[in-house]
Amino acid sequence: MKMKEVLRQKIEAHRTRTVRLLKEYGDTEISKVTIAQAIGGARGVRCLVTDVSYLDPFEGIRFRGRTIPETFEALPKVPGKEYPYVESFFYYMMTSDIPTMEETLEVVEEFKKRRNLPDYVKGIMRAMPKDTHPMTMFSAGILAMQRESVFVEKYNEGMSKFDYWEPTLEDVLNLLPKLPSLAAFIYRLKYKDDDQIADNPELDMGGNFAHQMGIEAPYDDVARMYFILHSDHESGNVSAHTTHLVASALSDAYYSLSAGINGLAGPLHGLANQEVLSWTMKFMDGLEGKEPTEEVIKEALWATLNSGQVIPGYGHAVLRKTDPRYTSQREFCLKNLPDYPLFKVISMIYQVAPGVLEEQGKAKNPWPNVDAQSGVIQWYYGLTEWDFYTVLFGIGRAIGVLTNITWDRALGYPIERPKSVTTDMLEEAAGIK
Ligand SMILES: CC(C)(COP(=O)(O)OP(=O)(O)OC[C@H]1O[C@@H](n2cnc3c(N)ncnc32)[C@H](O)[C@@H]1OP(=O)(O)O)[C@@H](O)C(=O)NCCC(=O)NCCS
Repeated sequence: MKMKEVLRQKIEAHRTRTVRLLKEYGDTEISKVTIAQAIGGARGVRCLVTDVSYLDPFEGIRFRGRTIPETFEALPKVPGKEYPYVESFFYYMMTSDIPTMEETLEVVEEFKKRRNLPDYVKGIMRAMPKDTHPMTMFSAGILAMQRESVFVEKYNEGMSKFDYWEPTLEDVLNLLPKLPSLAAFIYRLKYKDDDQIADNPELDMGGNFAHQMGIEAPYDDVARMYFILHSDHESGNVSAHTTHLVASALSDAYYSLSAGINGLAGPLHGLANQEVLSWTMKFMDGLEGKEPTEEVIKEALWATLNSGQVIPGYGHAVLRKTDPRYTSQREFCLKNLPDYPLFKVISMIYQVAPGVLEEQGKAKNPWPNVDAQSGVIQWYYGLTEWDFYTVLFGIGRAIGVLTNITWDRALGYPIERPKSVTTDMLEEAAGIK
């Protein structure tokens, strides 16, 4: 596979950079840690390394150095479609090279061969109680496939540390293409009476996902856009960091991704997209058919804050402006569903919420994040079961975090082990003890 050979060359070239930095500049300081950071979730402490993406607080995410519009522009597109092959994006994230159409199609074919969901996973999904959250099913399905790990097999046979990345990549290539199949299976099982739709071997990852979900075009393009937009947000966010942390113990890709997905399931992280929709629907129900106005929205936002809850979809630990992932989806809505009432309400919230959060004066970033805009698109195309939304996020996020752990193994990053201190020690450091 061309991608693997390109990756091998990139890894060999990159290793010398990492080794040199460690050997010759290991003592160079890049961050300091304050008491506020130690208590406050390590916010802003620079202590992780990744080259897959970088998040600038004002500009937003760059994937391998490219902004979102630049990435969409550069990658080969599915014929007749507006968005690129997800497979071409995966090639790009892994290697930092934009693949040709031929290189892309090689990945597309490889993914097709590997995307069939094993029967035992279907059995496990069917055995789970009907009210199980789809994120629990998704994580359990990933974990159930751990028995297939090639990394574990090769590790048990005994292999050089320098070769770890190869079976890790093999695991990633086996796991990633199965995620849309697993997600669509869960969706049809949970909400469509287990009326499953067979794989269409003609279709790429985004196309086949839409097909197996049972949703017409342009939902295939929505899926491609969605998976790419949600793929990576550098290394410190909960899902990326968790996947990296678990993988640092040499737990394989299945264990690591399942753990990362569990983190994504939290309402302060990926689950916020479900929360946005439930908040908005509750708000619209409360209107009892009346036209929403900015004044009424303002009141509802204040009621949420005054009851001690957060405004879902707003704020960010790193970003300090409107999330370009929000903007990208907003542009999609302006083009495809400009007059949709739910989109109008979401847009009105965008007009009002930043001012409300600024007036409250707590959130460091009053602007919307990716989750504020994603649910409305799903709803418009008929995916109204909002507790499924974070699973879609999870498929996308897997692309970034699985690329990261492949590179972790390639560069020999060690087991992660930060140091903790006691409150007594903090008081001593502060000079108050
Ligand atoms: C994303 C988030 C978890 C970042 O948290 P953070 O880095 O601690 O954010 P800040 O430093 O700005 O938080 C400072 C204060 O503002 C509050 N705040 C931040 N965003 C808020 C929001 N959207 N609504 C209400 N309060 C908010 C925090 O809860 C915190 O309050 P506290 O001092 O009482 O604990 C936070 O903005 C949030 O809860 N947003 C809503 C959930 C969401 O959309 N998550 C998806 C993120 S992609």
